[in-house]
Amino acid sequence: MCGIVGYIGSNDALPVLINGLRKLEYRGYDSAGIATIMNNELNIVKTKGRLSDLEEKLNGMNLGKSTIGIGHTRWATHGAPSDLNSHPHTNMSKTIAVVHNGIIENYIELKEELQNKGYKFASETDTEVIAHLADMYYNGDLIDTLIKVISRLKGSYAIGMISNEHPEDFVAVRKDSPLIVGLGTGENFIASDIPAILEHTRKIYLLEDNEIVHLTKSGVTICDINKNKITKEIFNVEWDVEAAEKGGYEHFMLKEMNEQPKVVHDTIAQRIINGKINFENFSVNRDTIKDINKIFIVACGSAYHAGMVGKYLIEHLAEIPVEVDIASEFRYRNPIVDEKTLIIIISQSGETADTLAALREAKKRNGKILAIVNVVGSSIAREADDVIYTWAGPEIAVASTKAYTTQLSIMYLLSTYFAELKGKITTNEAKKLVDELLDIPEKLKSVMSRASEIKELGSKYYKERDIFFLGRGLDYMVAMEGSLKLKEISYIHSEAYAAGELKHGTIALIEQGTVVFALATQEALFEKMLSNIKEVKARGASIIAIAQEGNEQLKDIADHVFYIPKIEDKLASILTVVPLQMFAYYCATIKGCDVDKPRNLAKSVTVE
Ligand code: F6R
Repeated sequence: MCGIVGYIGSNDALPVLINGLRKLEYRGYDSAGIATIMNNELNIVKTKGRLSDLEEKLNGMNLGKSTIGIGHTRWATHGAPSDLNSHPHTNMSKTIAVVHNGIIENYIELKEELQNKGYKFASETDTEVIAHLADMYYNGDLIDTLIKVISRLKGSYAIGMISNEHPEDFVAVRKDSPLIVGLGTGENFIASDIPAILEHTRKIYLLEDNEIVHLTKSGVTICDINKNKITKEIFNVEWDVEAAEKGGYEHFMLKEMNEQPKVVHDTIAQRIINGKINFENFSVNRDTIKDINKIFIVACGSAYHAGMVGKYLIEHLAEIPVEVDIASEFRYRNPIVDEKTLIIIISQSGETADTLAALREAKKRNGKILAIVNVVGSSIAREADDVIYTWAGPEIAVASTKAYTTQLSIMYLLSTYFAELKGKITTNEAKKLVDELLDIPEKLKSVMSRASEIKELGSKYYKERDIFFLGRGLDYMVAMEGSLKLKEISYIHSEAYAAGELKHGTIALIEQGTVVFALATQEALFEKMLSNIKEVKARGASIIAIAQEGNEQLKDIADHVFYIPKIEDKLASILTVVPLQMFAYYCATIKGCDVDKPRNLAKSVTVE
């Protein structure tokens, strides 16, 4: 959960590194550092704190121009955030500097071995073993050295390594942690993610595990661990640099919420050809659908909540049994998977460690893997049998919003697609659903346009200590997502409950003034939901209800009703979640929380 950037060229490396790290801060932001080479000496500057703290430190120094450098923004795993634990790390003689993202699982034994040989450690990190191993194996050739180093490592890593003896070249490698190469003119780059270097180049190599990259200012070569040359295709990034920046909004989260009508449109509309759902290069078709008799949906956090909606829809529409699993549970619970099982892996980043491990576990058991992923070329996308991209664009705010709604969009498409292939809905019914799907972006716009209504609720309730979210069926699944959003960015404690379950214990917590969001968009469950609302109302709760336009019954009982545009019940979740995202956002901003980078959280959870 760290960000790496590296540069070699003719320009000053420092601004390239700092600007690159700024785009990677979402990957971790508890410390930052850089290493450059000047007059054949390594300059290392690093500090605990945000990138701005590093900049402040650099402002007080006069490093001079260096045309090579590596930078790092850290999210602590081994060793608390501190100046010493910040990257880059070096060997004892400070001739080799490394930045690393990932976890070296055998670092304790390596550390002991190195200490026995006289190596002294300056930090508590696992990364430092890489620098000392590099020292031990260094023979004047950086590629040889890196190959020998990684042959000793167990775990995950993306590594960038420079040496003062090599001011004209540097090396990098990855395994189970993301790393890309940017190809410029007279300059080349490495980075953990594309936005870090997009202002310099759109030509990218997406690295595979254990491909060793050698960069000079005039070229990039890639080889395997036996030094066999590897030829790679260049990936051209088509999205705009603007897309990865705030574009005038106060926070990435606000920008990303506002992008939902567009990205949901992109995700849906491009898959509907002549009124029919079409997934390009998808191996599940009319002939192969019969080979699937069970589906697992596996994911973490918000992606898991999208999976719960997926279960409901696939079971209702396509009548295929679905189990939804939290990835960290699935990987250790002996799931019954065989070649007739489809495993749908959902992940925004495509790098979540537990989700990736669950994918591998399912693969070992001969399951067929479909990944629903946002980040193109990510590990999960690469290792799956089939991939459907969510096309949400880069999501920078830690709290997922547009990635979640595009995941729901894919669930709508997929369940309808499966249902039609299996003959469970008629062509006419499928067409009706498709028409409804195409209308969602406009309805999302209409919800977004009423942000001020939610802002007012935020200013009324942002001081609450506990807020409950209740729903039945699909509304319960959205309640879980609304509750997660509120907790993670506004730090208000909240719980989501299946409304019928409340009276089995939790209703004891409802007292005068307790705020309860009551989601009541599902016609078939409305009467039951109404009873649950009355139960909490009778105990003094303040009710904020969410219902479809035209529902008059809630007006008298709820303190506030937020109406979403009329929509087919099965598709309502994508609209219902938006006021909940906004409510979390406004509570957090009014409280003065760091919305885009909530405490204790990082965007991409690449460790277990
Ligand atoms: C919550 C959030 C997380 C992620 C989870 C999975 O707002 O963003 O719960 O959904 O960490 O991440 P991905 O989707 O990248 O696998």
